[in-house]
Amino acid sequence: MTTASTDPINIGLVGLGTVGAGTVNVLRRNQVEISRRAGREIRIRSAAVRDLKVPRDCVVDDLTLTSNPFDVTDDPEISLVVELVGGCHIAKEVVLRSLQQGKHVVTANKALIALHGNDIFQAAHERGLMVAFEAAVAGGISIIKVIREGLSGNRIDRIVGIINGTSNYILTLMLEEQYSFESALQEAQRKGFAETDPSFDVDGIDAGHKLAILAAIGFGIPLQFDRVHVEGISNVTLDDIQYAAELGYRIKHLGIAQRTPAGAELRTHACLTPVNALLANVSGEMNAILIEGDAVGPTLHYGAGAGAEPTASSVVADIVDVVRALTTDPGNRVPHLAFQPSALTELPLVPILEVDSANYLRLQVIDQPGVLADITRILGEMEISIEAIVQKGASQDGEAVPVIITTHRTLEQQIVDASMRIEALETVVAPITRIRIYPDGA
Ligand code: HSE
Repeated sequence: MTTASTDPINIGLVGLGTVGAGTVNVLRRNQVEISRRAGREIRIRSAAVRDLKVPRDCVVDDLTLTSNPFDVTDDPEISLVVELVGGCHIAKEVVLRSLQQGKHVVTANKALIALHGNDIFQAAHERGLMVAFEAAVAGGISIIKVIREGLSGNRIDRIVGIINGTSNYILTLMLEEQYSFESALQEAQRKGFAETDPSFDVDGIDAGHKLAILAAIGFGIPLQFDRVHVEGISNVTLDDIQYAAELGYRIKHLGIAQRTPAGAELRTHACLTPVNALLANVSGEMNAILIEGDAVGPTLHYGAGAGAEPTASSVVADIVDVVRALTTDPGNRVPHLAFQPSALTELPLVPILEVDSANYLRLQVIDQPGVLADITRILGEMEISIEAIVQKGASQDGEAVPVIITTHRTLEQQIVDASMRIEALETVVAPITRIRIYPDGA
């Protein structure tokens, strides 16, 4: 029997921004509780930062600060490197170098895991090292642990989540306070939820990275961000939010990974979600992820998806996990992607044009006789069944008015083709806004 050491363990941080400072603060504040859990004291020995002169949101007096990340990765006294720089370039070098130096890694970097995780895990596997990444998805929610460990008896059928706090915050402020998109985004940036490049949030890329990770560990497939269909919230207007509310829906940005008879669908986009659905009631920067397993049924996991200390909560939990597992046989650890590396399989991924969903359409049409007849004729010819149709307001002088149509489920290809035909009508004066409806009790 191997006896675990009770000597203090040294860790090093690379990056001391919002999450890095949060990690230092949580480790310091809860030091006693954390040591009781880990079985040994966890000491931060050093931290690498880009600019030594920048003030930090944590006490750094007793840390060695360096501007060279390799001072941390190559320090023989350090057993575990915590990568919190974000982005892929330096972060990938830091992680691979740490592994080459025989060090375990904890990272909060979803882009890095989604884009380079397959190589990183291979490198870690070859050396018997751990790369923990709980904080990469949904900040403080322990969703990786839930899927990898808590639900390991299930076949996971569906993962649907609000996994970008910034988008959820923006949509919430637009709904509840009639904020413009831009003001809501600024507010999210001020609060520290948004990515350095906020297009990652509002264009769905951040959610796409997280979805690729969730799908991999849920379905036992390799990470494949390039095959996630990614859309954001930039086409959603205040009017859409209002019209959706009148129809009994809230607009949410969802990440969806689900098995269908044709394979797996992996997509992120805005969705009209029924107001009484649990996910529709997740507001502000909060995240929530619904997971359906064949044995457990639906489960819902809710919490802060961003911010210094919620994210630090997951980073520290990973540090504790790694410290506890240091002396375990690498072959008996929880696999990085939940399934044994040799057991990962390819699952056919359903192209977006073959996805089947109900739709909300907002058209801008000239208010004159026969317009709706033309539109409904095209939908009928394309075998798209209308659920509801409403004209918003009336115009006396032939000006354009909004018309809202909701459809029953239809193949994406059909609604795309029908939209093109409708947009070609002279009476339709602007591109159609189309938002999918998520009807399945999410
Ligand atoms: N920008 C991300 C979000 C931060 O808004 O959810 C956490 O990944």
